[in-house]
Amino acid sequence: MPSQQTEQNNPLLATAYSRARMVAFGGSTMHIRRATVKDYRELIAVDRLARSSRDRKLSLRRAIAEQAAYVLVQRDCLLAYAILRRSFFHRPFVEMLYVAETERRKGYGELLLARLEAKGLQHAEIWTSTNRSNKPMRRLLKKRGFMFTGRVCRLDKGDAELFYCKKRPNKINPPPPGPRLHAHARSDVYQP
Ligand SMILES: CC(C)(COP(=O)(O)OP(=O)(O)OC[C@H]1O[C@@H](n2cnc3c(N)ncnc32)[C@H](O)[C@@H]1OP(=O)(O)O)[C@@H](O)C(=O)NCCC(=O)NCCS
Repeated sequence: MPSQQTEQNNPLLATAYSRARMVAFGGSTMHIRRATVKDYRELIAVDRLARSSRDRKLSLRRAIAEQAAYVLVQRDCLLAYAILRRSFFHRPFVEMLYVAETERRKGYGELLLARLEAKGLQHAEIWTSTNRSNKPMRRLLKKRGFMFTGRVCRLDKGDAELFYCKKRPNKINPPPPGPRLHAHARSDVYQP
């Protein structure tokens, strides 16, 4: 039986995969990859809450150490990050999706989420939650075809936590359209 070629044991394949992970976005290269300790400072600089919250800093450090954090980088500039773990009844769960304040509404959040979905849906489903008051996230989840599954009250006073799930597409759950690139960033090269 031929040995299975993987990214790890075949450098040519690794290069091809790495090229495939580079996407052209607004005429410059954009990269979505796992975060490393080298990204920590920039992550704190991007996330306004992390600057003042010790818990958030710790959670970021832990996510990086556990290889659960992903970053979206354009021209060596970190624009967004996300945390994905199998933390919800052993199911993939997007614990955090964060786009730098100055970079919002440009399509980066959707691109990063689409990448996490591709990872999560290898396990047939992906879950996440957000506050009821978080309209941007709720709209994004709706756009990406996530289904509302229930709410938990009394975590944040007067602001329920809403849970969402997306199943691997089949005849019952058809795939949503791919992420729409915003006009300034349109490219034919993008592959989620
Ligand atoms: C939620 C968040 C990740 C969205 O990222 P973004 O890069 O601004 O979103 P995108 O530009 O990819 O937008 C994709 C879709 O999301 C929805 N959306 C995003 N921001 C929105 C806003 N301010 N108002 C309404 N809808 C919004 C829209 O449906 C949008 O599609 P459209 O542009 O075709 O209308 C971003 O607002 C953020 O980082 N918020 C702070 C952290 C947070 O609350 N994270 C979620 C909980 S973990």
